[in-house]
Amino acid sequence: MASGNASSKQRVIIASNRLPLSVKENNGTYETTPSSGGLVSALRGLQAADYLWLGWPGIEVNDKSARESVNASLAKENAAAVWLDQKLATDHYNGFSNAILWPSLHYQSGVVMDDNAWEAYQRVNEIFADEVSNKAKDGDLIWVHDYHLFLLPRLLRKRLQAQNKRCPIGFSLHTPFTVDDFWRGVPVHDQLLEGVLGSDIIGFHTDEYKKNFLGACDTLLDGTRVENDQIHYDNRVVETGKFIVGIDYRKFADASGDHEVLSRIKELETLYKDKQVIIGVDRMDYTKGLPEKLDGFRIFLEEHPDMANKVVLIQIAVPSREDVKEYQDLEAQVSKLVGQISGKHATPHHSPLLYIHRSVSFAELAALYSISDACLLTSRRDGMNLVASEYVACQEARQGVLVLSEFTGAATFLKPGSLLFNPSNTHSLSDALYKALTMDKEERRRNYEELRNFVTTNTSAKWTETFLGELGRLKN
Ligand code: ADP
Ligand code: F6P
Repeated sequence: MASGNASSKQRVIIASNRLPLSVKENNGTYETTPSSGGLVSALRGLQAADYLWLGWPGIEVNDKSARESVNASLAKENAAAVWLDQKLATDHYNGFSNAILWPSLHYQSGVVMDDNAWEAYQRVNEIFADEVSNKAKDGDLIWVHDYHLFLLPRLLRKRLQAQNKRCPIGFSLHTPFTVDDFWRGVPVHDQLLEGVLGSDIIGFHTDEYKKNFLGACDTLLDGTRVENDQIHYDNRVVETGKFIVGIDYRKFADASGDHEVLSRIKELETLYKDKQVIIGVDRMDYTKGLPEKLDGFRIFLEEHPDMANKVVLIQIAVPSREDVKEYQDLEAQVSKLVGQISGKHATPHHSPLLYIHRSVSFAELAALYSISDACLLTSRRDGMNLVASEYVACQEARQGVLVLSEFTGAATFLKPGSLLFNPSNTHSLSDALYKALTMDKEERRRNYEELRNFVTTNTSAKWTETFLGELGRLKN
């Protein structure tokens, strides 16, 4: 696909379920905190563009003055709320998006359809279509994100046509797209495909996800013709492409120049001066392979007892989707495994496992990335995994080792330079970890150069510019 130039004149309207700020209620007052997750991190590359970001603030707020104060906080981030009542939002987000679409997109089969949740999903997509089309001006670029809004492009196209507004519509998926036989397991798979085919261009993180999507359209949707990377459908041509998502490299690489980060780095280096530190940062999500990580680490400690008092795995598990049963079960499972490992291997002087089940500040995150000798990421499936890139950006001085599941999108690109393993094989995980912690300096340096080249080249700014360049080039 030819690369275009983003038109600086065109305003961009972002539509995503998650906003850059999430709203929480605390004793009757509403507070906004920065959201976590790959989508929000990736869209930080937009800073220079003229944009408006529409999304769900994460909570129902009915009080007028509270709404105004939330709106004022969001406006500082170029964002605005699409207000939803709590039941509708819950059925859309937890009921359909996270209970049915999320596992299906991550190559799991056997989801159970929930008609009520599907109704809510359709309704929320309609509400977004009203909000976005009303806010859009003729000539704006519209960029829809992720699986919560699969139906939105088609709904928007109809509304914009009726309002005589010409706005190219782009869609980016931040998860994998599964193979057609698994996608068939979602009973409304064809309506979801039709919805997203309302876009002018659809972006994926890897060639594999793009190929799976093209395959699903070809085999599951009557009346489509797939040719090269284009889908001919409903008398239109929809482009698809791979757009490599990245991070704000300098924000992480320069973090050690910040006073707060630097003093935290010094404290942590003193604390762990005789230890090798392994860092893991994941949302508490079953796709991240946390039980596999803990099991692999347990085997590593058993296979290398001499190392038990010389290493520490610091695992941050950011709370996520806590109303969904599978996530509650996962938390219980992880807590149990953590207890077992600590119980067996901790001494009064040292515990090889430190488990942090809460969000940490940027300064703490950057300091932890910086002082770690290895980063261990064990996803069973992962759209991209930006934590891998953030670790690399914080390692210019130490040149640590990236130990990465082969089932992350990132592994496609970071294969040269990282140690890949299959997370279902806990022995291969343990072996990769051992290799990382015993790797000589020269091999670390060579690997690090490979990783750094990729992460500095493929930044979030490049991702947004490339996608919007393509979108701006298209005629709606
Ligand atoms: P996912 O999108 O599945 O959560 P990624 O690895 O792609 O996975 O992205 C996770 C993002 O969340 C990273 O950019 C990471 O820095 C960010 N993150 C992790 N912990 C926090 C936190 N405490 N506060 C804010 N962002 C966080
Ligand atoms: O990476 C996929 C994704 O759904 C992103 O859209 C989002 O940033 C992240 O996971 C976190 O999910 P949620 O918005 O449900 O907290």
